[in-house]
Amino acid sequence: MQASPLDFFAKAWADDRDTWTSSTVNPLLIKHADLLPPNEDKDNPKRIFVPLCGRTLDMIWLVDKGYVVVGVELFRKAILKFFEKQKLEFEVTEVPEIPSAKLYTARDGRLLIYECNFFDLRRDVVGLFDGVYDRGSWGSIDPPDRPKYVETVKNSLRSTGTWLLLTFDIVAEGGEYKGPPFSLPFSTVAKSIPSDLSCTEVSSYLRPETASSLKLMKKYTFDLTVVLLVIVIRYIDVMRSVLKPTGTWLLLTVDLGVEGDQYRGPPFSLPFQAVAKLISSFFSCVEVHSCVDADEAEKNYTFDLTVRRSVIVIRPLSK
Ligand SMILES: C[S@@+](CC[C@H](N)C(=O)[O-])C[C@H]1O[C@@H](n2cnc3c(N)ncnc32)[C@H](O)[C@@H]1O
Repeated sequence: MQASPLDFFAKAWADDRDTWTSSTVNPLLIKHADLLPPNEDKDNPKRIFVPLCGRTLDMIWLVDKGYVVVGVELFRKAILKFFEKQKLEFEVTEVPEIPSAKLYTARDGRLLIYECNFFDLRRDVVGLFDGVYDRGSWGSIDPPDRPKYVETVKNSLRSTGTWLLLTFDIVAEGGEYKGPPFSLPFSTVAKSIPSDLSCTEVSSYLRPETASSLKLMKKYTFDLTVVLLVIVIRYIDVMRSVLKPTGTWLLLTVDLGVEGDQYRGPPFSLPFQAVAKLISSFFSCVEVHSCVDADEAEKNYTFDLTVRRSVIVIRPLSK
């Protein structure tokens, strides 16, 4: 029987076999860090959440960039090894609100790591974040728990926040690699995110990995992907600020029913129901027209696609 991800990680840490830990800062983080919210005010640094942080050096790099970094890691050995390897002094305190947790603080309070299960962390304890840096974290969660992971990360982000996701897809034949971390292709990410997040694949490239570099028995090809998830609430906030109380927002949108998962967008599918859910606290919203456009597939796409087009009228709710 396949070990659960938690059993896998428990054994990996016990055996000092955290093969995913890199001895250098992740080059994709360095390359794409400007996608994270900029730190404009030194006295009020932006907060970055690093879920399932392991002992990644990337946390230190982010602190050096001026961010306050908050990680969460279940296994104490990972945290202690991190501080030991980085030769960092730290303090450990209890977390009264989360009895299972301990808090490790370093670098003048700019680096905080919670030792606990990600799912036990509470928003009222850790606060909201301006950014999330997720390298191999979503992909390390047992697939049945992933919707809860996505919801929890989403709820920990400010409405202007950005979730930088570095993920991979093993595209080699064979399927012997089982993870964790599990393969998490962009198409799966795009399908799994809630309708109030937008999602863009910023970069994707193929890299042949060898057995020796990953301490695996086979040769695999990884499709390394940087995915940027941006909360679209930011867009709605702008609309709220520019639309007069008597104004009207005429929205023409599409809902793409796709066979298979070849369609990636943008533009992304934005059905009326999603619009209504997103904006109902600020605007009234009526779908005045909706039709299915079956010809669209033949004209523009080489795969099956049904396009439902909607015309939606949106007006500010009177205060
Ligand atoms: C693949 S590693 C990624 C670590 C890190 N993001 C990096 O780039 O090196 C996943 C880490 O998450 C930890 N982990 C797995 N499930 C967890 C959970 N439910 N709560 C907290 N940590 C967890 C594991 O111990 C492991 O260190």
